[in-house]
Amino acid sequence: MVRNRIAVFGAGYIGLVTGACLAKLGHTVVVRDIQEERIALLRAGGVPIHEDGLAELIAENTDRLTFTLDAQEAVRDAEVVYVCVDTPTTPSGDADLSRIWQVIKSLEGARHLVAVVVKSTVPVGTGARIRAAMDSAGLQAVGYAANPEFTAEGRAVHDFLHPDRVVIGADDPDTMKLVAQLHDGVDGPIAEMDVPSAEMVKLAANALLATKISFTNEIATICEATGADVEQVVRAVGMDHRLGPHFMRPGVGYGGSCFPKDSRALRALAGNSGYSFQLMTSVIEVNDLQPRRAIQRLSDEIGGFQGRSVALLGIAFKPGTDDVREAPSAIIASRLQAEGASVRCWDPLVGPLAGEPWSSATRCRTPLEAMAGADAAIIVTEWPQLRDIAWEQAAAVMARPLVFDGRNLLAPQDMGALGFTYMSVGRTTVRAAA
Ligand code: UGA
Repeated sequence: MVRNRIAVFGAGYIGLVTGACLAKLGHTVVVRDIQEERIALLRAGGVPIHEDGLAELIAENTDRLTFTLDAQEAVRDAEVVYVCVDTPTTPSGDADLSRIWQVIKSLEGARHLVAVVVKSTVPVGTGARIRAAMDSAGLQAVGYAANPEFTAEGRAVHDFLHPDRVVIGADDPDTMKLVAQLHDGVDGPIAEMDVPSAEMVKLAANALLATKISFTNEIATICEATGADVEQVVRAVGMDHRLGPHFMRPGVGYGGSCFPKDSRALRALAGNSGYSFQLMTSVIEVNDLQPRRAIQRLSDEIGGFQGRSVALLGIAFKPGTDDVREAPSAIIASRLQAEGASVRCWDPLVGPLAGEPWSSATRCRTPLEAMAGADAAIIVTEWPQLRDIAWEQAAAVMARPLVFDGRNLLAPQDMGALGFTYMSVGRTTVRAAA
């Protein structure tokens, strides 16, 4: 088995998981980041993000996994450089590649490298531009590969080691072979292709997943208007093997660091070539409206939010993570405050949050504390523990037993039986007897 020395640039969700998993596979890995506190914490044995199994993996592989702030030190002994820096959206909707270019710049003179592999999500065509930049920096002999990431937060370590597929785009067979070998020990098939196709697979896969979610949310809205139950509909639709049951959970919309950004990036990529990707535009708009529609429905039920207290249950963009990037919770909290409500929020993992809307909201230690005296509670993140709380106690401590379940986590009949008015997405509202 070939084992390599790898420098991973970026100690975020993707870089840390990639670094730790490559170390587990037997490679020697140095992870480089520009954030001093982050590297200091990692060196002291801490882990700056919550990701299932990551802390254990880092602890188990300390002999092969180190951390540095110094780009030159990271590159000095490396054979392969993995680029895992973030590519946020620019005002034009394009991906901001400045962090990638900084990494490429720091490789100037590193002729000893065998390959540069980009894991960050990039517009199609980026690999060709990086290749040209490497060539003019005298790195013609260094291979280039695109190896996009398909791991989902919260299960990233598992997804890395047991993927549906590993996508590798490379223009020369040696680089293809090398990057494939880096994955020896990974339990999943390898899909080999050219660089632009690998870049497109990533954007297309996320766009289709986002499309499934927005489609389901639109069906849910029609269910609300017609008396159908979206959960029953989706269950049977998903039994068709051509469609499958996945990513058809209705709710207050998708968030996170990937779907919102990647769907905008794909739309911008199409737009830049003069093509209007209308389907993607609709997917994005449906998702933007989803949390706003929830607030409007609740407002109609409650007679406006002025002077009301609302409990917001869940802040993270999905359960199992402390990540709040593009989380619907921020839109929901802002809308509530703009309509005159005070917001009491709870989340089991998300740490202290600065800035609005959070600095004007009250953080609570338990769901029940958040619901004390509240005129309504909104489930924004489907944290499993919300299933098991003493809802009869919640009904007793709330000013009004009203729950808007933005993730269809609970059973309408059960909540009705406890005396709640229970609203959810794509299902008939259960009203407490007057
Ligand atoms: C997503 C993809 O699932 C990964 O394959 C991909 O690698 C990653 O983006 C990325 O591009 O790096 P992630 O954003 O971590 O992963 O989370 P998901 O579990 O996909 O959830 C995304 C959002 O969609 C969440 O807000 C979730 O609540 C929402 N969602 C998901 C729904 O509203 N309905 C569903 O049926 C599924």
